[in-house]
Amino acid sequence: MNVPNLKQARIRTNKEVEFKYDVTGIDDKLKIGNKTFFIKTYGCQMNEHDSENIRAMMLEMNFKEAKDMDSADIIILNTCAIRENAHNKVFGMLGRIKHRKEMDSGVITCLCGCMAQEENVVEEIRNKYKWVDIIFGTHNIHELPKMLYDVIKNNEKRIEVLSIEGDVIENMHYARDNKYKAWVNIMYGCDKFCTYCIVPYTRGKQRSRKKEDIINEVNDLIKDGVLEITLLGQNVNAYGKDLYDDYGMEDLLLDVSKTEIKRIRFVTSHPWDFTDKMIDAIASCDNVMPFVHLPVQSGSNDILKKMGRRYTKEEYIELFNKIKSRVKDVSITTDIIVGFPNESDEDFKATLDLVDYCKFDLAYTFIYSKREGTPASLIKDEIPLKVKQERLEVLNEHINKYALENNKKLIGKTVKVLVENISEKDPNQVCGYTEGQKLVNISGGADLIGKIVDVYISDAKTWSLDGIIK
Ligand code: SAH
Ligand code: SF4
Ligand code: F3S
Repeated sequence: MNVPNLKQARIRTNKEVEFKYDVTGIDDKLKIGNKTFFIKTYGCQMNEHDSENIRAMMLEMNFKEAKDMDSADIIILNTCAIRENAHNKVFGMLGRIKHRKEMDSGVITCLCGCMAQEENVVEEIRNKYKWVDIIFGTHNIHELPKMLYDVIKNNEKRIEVLSIEGDVIENMHYARDNKYKAWVNIMYGCDKFCTYCIVPYTRGKQRSRKKEDIINEVNDLIKDGVLEITLLGQNVNAYGKDLYDDYGMEDLLLDVSKTEIKRIRFVTSHPWDFTDKMIDAIASCDNVMPFVHLPVQSGSNDILKKMGRRYTKEEYIELFNKIKSRVKDVSITTDIIVGFPNESDEDFKATLDLVDYCKFDLAYTFIYSKREGTPASLIKDEIPLKVKQERLEVLNEHINKYALENNKKLIGKTVKVLVENISEKDPNQVCGYTEGQKLVNISGGADLIGKIVDVYISDAKTWSLDGIIK
């Protein structure tokens, strides 16, 4: 048994990262089969992508994917720790699974992801949810097959969470839902330690993958028919800093853009590491999409300082303007937290002013959530939750207004859309995303799926556009 340890998770040393190329195979003994599984994923793209890896391993063990959780023999909860409500959802789900377990003791429950890396969560599960069979963390996902074998064949329970800085595991397999779009990890972990954020503790230190491993993966995806890739990391702009002397994100973008891949995206960009060369790379490569997710978090310099974000509002705006002026038709989206401890009315007003200035294409907005073990959790907060909720509402009104305004500017224009699916709302429509990452619903049939087509934008809503095939 290995339980998580918060103090250890905080440690950063100069120890060299190990690149492991031969730990992912599944031998015949592990191909047990004869059971169904269901994966429930919470959180960010990194977790979604990890779930694709888990799914591939489960399929390679000859398990079959169940249609829903209630009919599955093995339930895997891939959890997120970023905010309290993500936590609550998972504990709510555990309550539901408990009922099932009472009726069918053979159900196997696994919990993984960022919550599994939290000391207090694992303690609570060990005390109150003793029936959970496997808990594993973000550093040893590849060990799931072996753990499942032990549970199924030897009737063991396994808690294996490592609070280490982390390795880079290569040769992972992914079973993707989407045939045309794929995520590609370019780095793991985070060393920024923003004062409110749990990620550096749950995902370990920043570890870049080797450029050749990334390019090889992209080339394999192209052979599989993938048209669009999204390069993934908590701070993609810092790519390479931990691995190379003179090879960074701009170089990687240029190298990836030389492959045959049609569309390249990347998330998330931390404003601090955004270089001019990087902007040039986005502007000059046709297959790098004009879309930047650039989380600002707050428009108040005082709050930004307390958050440990290492840029000022003025620096953010300068960067924002540079990107807007140099990258043609660029969409810029952001993340904003309201109600950081003791955020004053003036601080909040500064955030609104920044939003009114930048007029983002879209923003993900959150009420600050206290995360145990982070520096901000120690600040005594005087602002009532009700005030924070009101601020969020006001902020969202501004955000939605600009989202609609920006979308309306596209009416009458023809844009390129990668059609990826039948529309959720209307089976006679298909949907896809523009180069600027805007969702478009288009009248048309399934034959358009997997194609990049010219679409005339006929109408605009806050969250989507309507289009007609040209
Ligand atoms: N690495 C990315 C963000 C990853 S987390 C970056 O630095 O930009 C995604 C978003 O969740 C963050 O941008 C932030 O807005 C939000 N978030 C993180 N910790 C939070 C907390 N404790 N409370 C509320 N929102 C939080
Ligand atoms: Fe969290 Fe900050 Fe790292 Fe983003 S950069 S993951 S907000 S610590
Ligand atoms: Fe992602 Fe949530 Fe972990 S946002 S990195 S799954 S804490």
